[in-house]
Amino acid sequence: MEEKQEQQEIFAMPRIGDAAPAFKAVTTQGEINFPADYSGSWVILFSHPADFTPVCTSEFMTFASMEDKFEEANCKLVGLSVDGLYSHIAWLRTIKEKIEYKGMKDIEVTFPLIEDISMEVAKKYGMIQPGEATTKAVRAVFFIDPQGIVRTIIYYPLSLGRNFDELHRVLIALQTADEFGVATPADWRPGDDVIVPPAGSCGTANDRMDSKDEEMTCYDWFFCTKKLDKETVLKAVLKK
Ligand code: BEZ
Repeated sequence: MEEKQEQQEIFAMPRIGDAAPAFKAVTTQGEINFPADYSGSWVILFSHPADFTPVCTSEFMTFASMEDKFEEANCKLVGLSVDGLYSHIAWLRTIKEKIEYKGMKDIEVTFPLIEDISMEVAKKYGMIQPGEATTKAVRAVFFIDPQGIVRTIIYYPLSLGRNFDELHRVLIALQTADEFGVATPADWRPGDDVIVPPAGSCGTANDRMDSKDEEMTCYDWFFCTKKLDKETVLKAVLKK
């Protein structure tokens, strides 16, 4: 019975649209009460397998060097691994004092890094994936909106470093969808055309196909796009 409960805990994970599970934790920046402390901001909660490992080091240097870009878009970063606080502090100090990598040096990680030796938070967020590792978190990324709702979840295995430009693109696309009531097509970047809401939500399919709106292009009744210039997107999403 106990074993079954433990298995359920390990496999529990929030889904898109769920309220982000709440927890209190000790971090390199003091205690946090998540997600309450982040109310009104977007937050990316992400896990890494272990301190003092190469892929994680390359990721932390990259994420920390891009922190301003996320901050501009009203998004805070919060990291987690199942290491302890002193390991986190020593690793981040080593990164700052010793590591020069791909033009990045003297990198100070100022966002909180959660210590989670008990794996309590990692289990709550489904970051322990036993087929990959039972003693480490995989590389999970949770995008949580200003209302505390999980909006996107991305998982990577231990061996694969994340693409932080993609994480930034996801953040801006989510904000654009909210702000303009649109969807974003494959590989969308600010300035590219966006998808207008499907037929039924604004008029009939034929209305859309026959529309004289020069901004709108319909490829078929179910697939219409419109222009949304980069400046308009960035003005709306960057530090409202
Ligand atoms: C790394 O970050 O380099 C790493 C961590 C755990 C397993 C494999 C690689």
